[in-house]
This record gives sequence, structure tokens and C-alpha cells, in this order.
Amino acid sequence: MTIDASIAEEVEALIDKAIFGEGIPGDKLRSVCKVLRDRVGHYDWVGFYFVDPNEDGMLVLGPYSGAPTEHIRIPFGRGICGQAASAGKLFLVQDVSAERNYLSCSIEVKAEIVLPVFREGRLVGELDIDSHSLSPFDDTDRALLETTCAKVAPLFP
Ligand code: SME
Repeated sequence: MTIDASIAEEVEALIDKAIFGEGIPGDKLRSVCKVLRDRVGHYDWVGFYFVDPNEDGMLVLGPYSGAPTEHIRIPFGRGICGQAASAGKLFLVQDVSAERNYLSCSIEVKAEIVLPVFREGRLVGELDIDSHSLSPFDDTDRALLETTCAKVAPLFP
């Protein structure tokens, strides 16, 4: 489900508009989630997790776009989000039924990609995307989402 170059360009422009416009960081991050979810057909849930400044090794749900999730706090190492946080690396699962260390949000979710967000070399959180399609992600997602993570890092708490 390759993202067209023209769509990627449009999404990047909309993300820049959200980031560099008026508003508080939380609202800007929520807008970024909404742009991604609205414009990319295979993104069904888009959200940020923050590294909890008050508890070591814990992620806490930040702004998101999509159905509410029960996974508000995720320890490092648990689920796809927790594994990406422990490793400090992109974690891509094209078929969640094949991943044993997985925290399900909804049976509709078929695939998930999680990218770490770093600021000045320190992990500050993650970008998490769920898809209702199987094997939906490729290098065009990776490129768009890595750029997005670099842009949003200054907005993280
Ligand atoms: N599926 C994730 C949990 C968070 S939700 O996708 C919003 C995981 O396995 O870490």
C-alpha cells in the first residue's frame, strides 16, 4: 500500500502547518495524528506515547486520533510499543496474529508500526500506528514516519 509521492508531500506540508502554527504542543501533536489518519488510507489509529518522566521504564499515552484505547500506560518490554521503547528502534509487525508479545486494542487491527522519537539522543516517546489491513507498510511509510518523528520531537514533554 505504497504512499504516493504526491500524498506524502501533501501530508508533510500539512504536518508542517500543524507544527509551526499557533497552539500548545499537545494540540499540535493531536493535529499531526489526525493528518496522518485522515490522509493515509491504511492508518486506522495514530497516536503518540510519551516516556513517563515520573516512572522509570513506563510509556504513557499522549495525543492520538482513532478509537479510545485501554492501553494508557505500557511498561517498556510489553507489547509492540514496549519492545520498541526497550530497543529504541522501529518495530514493524505486518501481521499482529504472528506476534506473541502484543497488546490488542481491537480485533480489527491487523498490523502495527512503532517508531521511537528521540530528542538530543534521548528517547522521549514513540509514534504508534495501527492498520486494519494486513502487510500494509513499506519503505514509503518508513520514510514519511521517520521524518515525522524528527519533526515532532521538540513538542514532546
Ligand atoms: N498494540 C500496542 C498497544 C497500543 S495500541 O496499539 C494503541 C502494543 O502491542 O504495544
